[in-house]
Amino acid sequence: MLSLPRRWRWIREQPLSSVPSCVRRGLCSRHHYLWILLILLVVCIAIQTFVARQARNDKLTGLPHLRFTVNKKHLLPVWEDFHSKSSLAVKQDMSSLQTERTADLHHPSGRYVKQSDNILSRKVDEIFSLDMDSQIEERKHLPNDGYETGFGLPGSLVHHSTRKGLTADKRLFRTPTPSSFLKTHIHSLHIEKTTCRPKSHIVFLKTHKTASSTILNILYRYGESRNLTFALPLNKHSQLFYPFFFASHFVEGVSSRSVREFHIMCNHMRFKKSEVAKVMPKNTFYFSILRNPVAMMESIFIYYKSIPAFHKAHSLDEFLDNTWRTYNSSLTNNHYAHNILAFDFGFDNNIAADGEDLEERASMAIAAIERDFHLILISEYFDESMILLKYALCWALEEVVSFKLNSRSERTRHPLLPTTAEKIKSWNALDWRIYMHFNSTFWHKVNTLVGQEQMKKEVSQLRELQARLANTCLKDGGAVDPSQIKDAGLKPFQYGAAVIQGYNLNPHLDKHTKTKCQRLITPELQYTDHLYTQQFPELAAKHRQATRMVAAQHQLLNRTDLIGMGSAREASHHRQFSRHKFSNLNQNKSPLLTLKGANKKTSLL
Ligand SMILES: *[C@@H]1O[C@H](CO)[C@@H](O)[C@H](O)[C@H]1NC(C)=O
Ligand SMILES: *[C@@H]1O[C@H](CO)[C@@H](O)[C@H](O)[C@H]1NC(C)=O
Ligand SMILES: *[C@@H]1O[C@H](CO)[C@@H](O)[C@H](O)[C@H]1NC(C)=O
Ligand SMILES: *[C@@H]1O[C@H](CO)[C@@H](O)[C@H](O)[C@H]1NC(C)=O
Repeated sequence: MLSLPRRWRWIREQPLSSVPSCVRRGLCSRHHYLWILLILLVVCIAIQTFVARQARNDKLTGLPHLRFTVNKKHLLPVWEDFHSKSSLAVKQDMSSLQTERTADLHHPSGRYVKQSDNILSRKVDEIFSLDMDSQIEERKHLPNDGYETGFGLPGSLVHHSTRKGLTADKRLFRTPTPSSFLKTHIHSLHIEKTTCRPKSHIVFLKTHKTASSTILNILYRYGESRNLTFALPLNKHSQLFYPFFFASHFVEGVSSRSVREFHIMCNHMRFKKSEVAKVMPKNTFYFSILRNPVAMMESIFIYYKSIPAFHKAHSLDEFLDNTWRTYNSSLTNNHYAHNILAFDFGFDNNIAADGEDLEERASMAIAAIERDFHLILISEYFDESMILLKYALCWALEEVVSFKLNSRSERTRHPLLPTTAEKIKSWNALDWRIYMHFNSTFWHKVNTLVGQEQMKKEVSQLRELQARLANTCLKDGGAVDPSQIKDAGLKPFQYGAAVIQGYNLNPHLDKHTKTKCQRLITPELQYTDHLYTQQFPELAAKHRQATRMVAAQHQLLNRTDLIGMGSAREASHHRQFSRHKFSNLNQNKSPLLTLKGANKKTSLL
């Protein structure tokens, strides 16, 4: 052993030309061969020690460094472990890990960065999310664009090119080739420093006439593909007993304690934070969407034309000119006509523009929304909203893609006069103030969280993806009037004087793509129904039984001509939605009143 340094020196001191002869000698002699091995071993240990120390230093300084040696050690067993597991086992791991997901805290700076992590759970997340057609790149929260290019990371096209239609090529990730393996290393290193973790505890306050049905569809698809649980309305209702203030027992599975953990709550409700918090975990992400109250009022006037406030008015102007005389806030459903946003968020909506305490109440409402919600989106900037949501939830671009749902045909849209717009702003002064405030915080978030340039880039990526999807999924490439929808299950609920458009599926789709496309265009009521059936199969079966009985009764009543005077529209609603007997179909009638039999016409629907 003492001769080792001497030997080492001897090798170093050999002139370059004599190296081949040295090697030859070393290889031929058993004795020398052993020495070389020993030296190599010492060198290896030295490098390892150095690398390990360096890695520790990196962690302390927080600088992103690429250290393949260290990570390889951690990753290999994880990969092998996962490839050998059945998908069921992965799923089980996932659910157990999911319960440990507590670190999804809303960072005060507005950036959602996961601080510390356990490499195994990260791998699960990664594999899991890749299964869901996501792109690793998209889950990263990059401080700026340069960060990504600085590393020369493979762009999203690497994964993209392996896709066939909507389907990610899972094989790429299941059996890593040397190059994909390297990429994975770079990704995992990158992820260690900069990713956040996709959020799956979400409350979406669904507001009226704000494109919120489209967001509902996004959440439904996200949750369904991951087997997440939804906080669905009790007894198969379609809404969480709106317009009553939300109460935790409105959610199916709460009173019966049959659901261990709820992930997503997104049906119509009148918001009440304290009650929602009883159902949803602490780390839940709360968001909602607002729309310019002027455009919103025009839409509401058409859609809710039958409410007492609008019933007699021939035009929106006529209503607005006479509000002081004709509007009665205590009549059922009139809340739709006045500061509906404030109402949905749980505030008192009855306040006049010249009300003394308007400013005070507006700032109180704004402060409460700021306190209870992590993000407020803006309907007018829907695509930008989806990108911002993607960042906030740490989702992939594919996960915020959508087709417009519950959207009106252009034919029933009416352009507004500037004077009408002013009247609306004044009549809905509370909503106007809330909207103006959150329009500005929205753009502030865009600037600080994403950046203008990046936003533009991602919005165009989103639109491109949407166009590709429309091309693949839709027969006519776009929305059609309800009369042209072939599949009754895909026909959207029609209400009021608006014509709500829907879609026809491209008939030439393989099974997998068809399922994906179908989910994208399934209207709200049908999808809610479907999720309820999946989540509560036994209860759903009971409801089906009851529905059949009611239908039989109805037939009897029909024959005896008791409800023969029902309007044609109601009859068509009945045919179309007889299976939704217990949902709150007639959206402007309260389901509780319906249950109490206060409105017999609705309860028969
Ligand atoms: C969801 O559940 C179904 C049925 O139990 C199962 O086949 C599927 O693999 C699960 N999906 C995920 C992503 O866990
Ligand atoms: C408003 O409606 C309530 C309930 O129907 C009624 O009692 C009240 O008199 C109405 N008020 C006005 C000003 O018409
Ligand atoms: C909302 O904010 C954007 C960006 O600042 C602005 O261009 C737009 O006019 C605002 N909307 C309204 C209704 O003021
Ligand atoms: C009620 O009767 C009319 C005509 O008698 C029929 O067209 C309609 O389908 C019936 N409705 C139901 C729900 O059975």
